[in-house]
Amino acid sequence: MVLETGQNVTQPDLYDPHFVARLFDEMARTYGTVNLISSLGFARRWRKQCLDSIAVAPGDSVVDLMTGMGELCPDLLRLTGRSGAVLAMDISAEMCRRASRHGSGMSGDHFHVIQADALNIPLEDQSVDCVVSTFGLKTFNELQLQRLASEVKRVLKPGGQFSFMEISVPASPLLRWPYLTYLRRVIPLIGRLLLGNPENYRLLGVYTVAFQNCGAVAAYFAAVGLQVQQQSRFFGCATGISGSRPADHS
Ligand SMILES: C[S@@+](CC[C@H](N)C(=O)[O-])C[C@H]1O[C@@H](n2cnc3c(N)ncnc32)[C@H](O)[C@@H]1O
Repeated sequence: MVLETGQNVTQPDLYDPHFVARLFDEMARTYGTVNLISSLGFARRWRKQCLDSIAVAPGDSVVDLMTGMGELCPDLLRLTGRSGAVLAMDISAEMCRRASRHGSGMSGDHFHVIQADALNIPLEDQSVDCVVSTFGLKTFNELQLQRLASEVKRVLKPGGQFSFMEISVPASPLLRWPYLTYLRRVIPLIGRLLLGNPENYRLLGVYTVAFQNCGAVAAYFAAVGLQVQQQSRFFGCATGISGSRPADHS
């Protein structure tokens, strides 16, 4: 889908799921390394904190939405154990291929990767114990985030838990300016040095600036009847939401 502009110039709709899938198909080859270098190790810590915000237990069934290359999955498999199940889901075929390859050493029967849109989760109502996701919220617009909230509530069992984390723009002006410069200039440069497409990495900055932080997402999740807490990491450079579907909520 493209947006028509006044000057007869067409621009891509950045929130069209097909556009997003293609973007990550293209980035898949370099995403892991760029993410590791550009986050200075923080991404790893924030993923761990995302999982630490809820109590994933042995035997739980967990869905990792926007799984990318399945970065959360080794920890999820360790937490859920042999009696649990981990389903990794992503809209990008290339990311799914890498998540499957990455997971090929992981226990077969209770680990699966599927290519699917998180806005239409192909699971039964009230069928999973936990829904988690890291760094996958920014490519959704407000309507899509509201839809995501409904989908998360729909698939969670009563009492089920969720946790999401996303890169965010810090509120403090002291941090904000250097952080935005880093997003706009340094990350695309790292992408270029690793032979990725710098324009794709520049777009990640555009999405992050539009997203800002998890504040609005928290409100959308609360609006569908989920209990929500918010988290801020490293002065707001990442924010998260976690919580549960009330046991007695319809
Ligand atoms: C920035 S990556 C994050 C990957 C990984 N979770 C991590 O911790 O690094 C965002 C991922 O979200 C996926 N994604 C974006 N929109 C999606 C949608 N509507 N449904 C499923 N996956 C989606 C992209 O394909 C991409 O792999």
